[in-house]
Amino acid sequence: AVKPRVLSGIQPTADSFHLGNYLGALRQWVAMQDTHDAFYCVVDLHAITVEHDPATLRRRTKVAIAQLLAMGVDPDRATLFVQSHVPEHTELAWVLGCITGFGEAGRMTQFKDKSSKQGTGGTTVGLFTYPVLQAADILLYSPEPHEERALRVPVGEDQRQHLELTRDLAQRFNHRFGDTFVPPEAHIPPGAAKITDLQEPDAKMSKSASSPQGIIDVLEEAGPMRKKIMRAVTDPGSDVVYDEERKAGVTNLLRIYSALEGTSVPDLETRYAGSGYGQFKKDLAQLVVDTFTPIRERTLKLLDDEEQLDRVLAQGAERASRVAARTMDTVRDRVGF
Ligand code: ADP
Ligand code: NA
Repeated sequence: AVKPRVLSGIQPTADSFHLGNYLGALRQWVAMQDTHDAFYCVVDLHAITVEHDPATLRRRTKVAIAQLLAMGVDPDRATLFVQSHVPEHTELAWVLGCITGFGEAGRMTQFKDKSSKQGTGGTTVGLFTYPVLQAADILLYSPEPHEERALRVPVGEDQRQHLELTRDLAQRFNHRFGDTFVPPEAHIPPGAAKITDLQEPDAKMSKSASSPQGIIDVLEEAGPMRKKIMRAVTDPGSDVVYDEERKAGVTNLLRIYSALEGTSVPDLETRYAGSGYGQFKKDLAQLVVDTFTPIRERTLKLLDDEEQLDRVLAQGAERASRVAARTMDTVRDRVGF
C-alpha cells in the first residue's frame, strides 16, 4: 500500500531548536519518516515576514537543517529541503491568495497577535498573507486525488485555524477548477508533549517569550543545561507527583522525563516516591544531557562539512521540486495559464 503523505515545516528563527520543539514536533518527524511519505522543510520564506538580518537567516537555515539531520531525519527516507529552494511555493501562494477572501484572511488570530508585536516599522502584507503561503506549502505536496491517500499535517493548537483555512482553500479550488487537491487532515502525533517554561511553568516554553533560564536549547552545553534543570521552579511540598493545577513545575519536569525516557508518569512517581525533588532533578538533568550531547556533537560535525550539507539540500530540493512542479503544472492548466 502507498504510505500516507505528511508535510511539516519549521522556521529557522533561532540559533538552536529548544526542548519544546524537540518533544512537541521534531522527534515525531523522525518517527513518522518510516510510516509516511514525509516532506519536511525549513521555512525561510516565513522567517522574513518579520524584520530579519540576511546573514543570520542564512546561518540559521543551515543550522536548522544540520540539527534535523543530527536528530535522525534521514534524507534518504524523508524529503528534507529548504522552502525558498522550491519557487513553486510562492507561485501557488499567489494563486491561492486570489481565491482567499480578504475578510477570511483578516480573521486569522495569529496575525492579530504577531502584528501587534511588530515595532516601529509596523506590520507587513507578508505577515498578513502568511497563512496563504502556509496553505501553498501544504497543498503543493498534495497526493493526486485519484491516489486515495491522506495528506497529514501535524499541528498544535495555535496552527489549527491555518489548517482549517488550507482545507477551505483546497475545497474551493477543487470546486471552481476541478479536483486537484486532497484536503489535509490535522494529525496529532503520538508521543508529542507540550512543554512549559522552566521558570514560569504555566507558560509555554518558547523562543520568543521564554527567558534564558526558562528554556533549554538543543545545542546548549551540558553545564548550563544541568543548571537550568536544577534551578527549575518546583512547587510547595516535596512529592514528585503529577498535578497540573497545583504542581505545574513538577508536572512539566515529569512530562519531559517521561517523554525522553519512555517511562510512564505513574512509574516515575513510584520510582521517586519519598526521595524529594533533588534526586529527581539530578537524574532528569543527566537524561537531558545524555539526549542532547550526541545531537549537539553531530550538528557541529555536519556544520563543519558545508559541501556535504549542500549536497543533502540539493537532493532534497530536487525531490521536492519533482512533486511541486507536477502540482503546479496541473494548477496552471486548471486556472487557464
Ligand atoms: P516557538 O513557540 O518557540 O516560537 P515555534 O512556534 O516555531 O516555536 O514551533 C515550532 C514547532 O515546535 C511547532 O510544531 C510547535 O508546536 C512546537 N513547539 C514549540 N514550542 C513548544 C512547546 N513548548 N511544547 C511543545 N511543542 C512546542
Ligand atoms: Na511560536
